[in-house]
Amino acid sequence: MAKTSRSGVSQLTQWFTTRNILSVGDFKARDLETIFEVADSLEPINLGRTSSDLMKGLVLGTLFFEPSTRTRLSFETAMLRLGGNVINVIGNSSSLEKGESLRDMGRVVSCFADVIAMRHPTAFTVHELSEGSTVPVINAGDGANEHPTQAMLDLYTIRKNQRRLKGLKVGLLGDLKYGRAAHSLIRVLALYGTEFVLISHPSLKLPEELLRELKTLGCNAVETSDLRSAIQDLDVLYVTRVQKERFPNLVDYEQVKNEYRVDLKTLRGARRSLSILHPLPRLDEIASEVDADPRFGCFDQVANGVTIRMALLALVAGRIPKAPKGKKKK
Ligand code: CP
Repeated sequence: MAKTSRSGVSQLTQWFTTRNILSVGDFKARDLETIFEVADSLEPINLGRTSSDLMKGLVLGTLFFEPSTRTRLSFETAMLRLGGNVINVIGNSSSLEKGESLRDMGRVVSCFADVIAMRHPTAFTVHELSEGSTVPVINAGDGANEHPTQAMLDLYTIRKNQRRLKGLKVGLLGDLKYGRAAHSLIRVLALYGTEFVLISHPSLKLPEELLRELKTLGCNAVETSDLRSAIQDLDVLYVTRVQKERFPNLVDYEQVKNEYRVDLKTLRGARRSLSILHPLPRLDEIASEVDADPRFGCFDQVANGVTIRMALLALVAGRIPKAPKGKKKK
């Protein structure tokens, strides 16, 4: 647990200042707890209960070379709600098209922005951009590799819904081969002694090296293709879309795209306390009839995404919020 200062947030916040957020592998449980503490303190701003100029005078640059609704808009909303400004590059509108290197682009955008969030279809390109950047760079998804801020908001949502993180039984369903959100979430959940049930078509299993990583950390992980049996005693069911854009050929995608669908019938026998999550966008993996079920938490994840990204922007910029009056922790 993070050491709490008189200002109400962790003394460990200094560790974050000017830090890149590229991989969840760089974070320990105590760092994640610091992010959650800061997020808790900023949540009233996201809920519109109060306003803030915490990031006044600072600029966020969002560089998105792959489609996004949630991640880009929530980063931009987070910055705007904290009184900062946003500039962006979307798609093929930048000088990368003329052959400029990502490293040079990082250096150049650092002249305009105080923090950069980047998404790219190729794994580890965000690391390349960060080598040129002189300001903190946040990975907003790099190919099939990682989506660290999604994992943090997923974990924050689980922490709120289940009121604990230790010792949960979590089922991950769908595309465990190409799903970067699942890859990052598995890594952070492994810090809390999670028991994993990995449910997928045999061709979409979790990469071997990630499975080995889980076992090395002492986590129990079972692989299955049987959703009906697996769902019975889960605390969390994390559903993912089959990532069409990552398949080398569409014939393989067509064969597995409709393998799983969670509907009310699937949920019979599942715990009343189950959290049903999905990073979104969804196609047909969760039937819309599930949306009214109190266990469905996907749109809470979206809202929590803004709060978590507020916290991350504030932390890497070294703009730590003061605790709300009357809410000082001892
Ligand atoms: N969850 C997520 O990354 O959504 P977007 O692709 O819309 O950003």
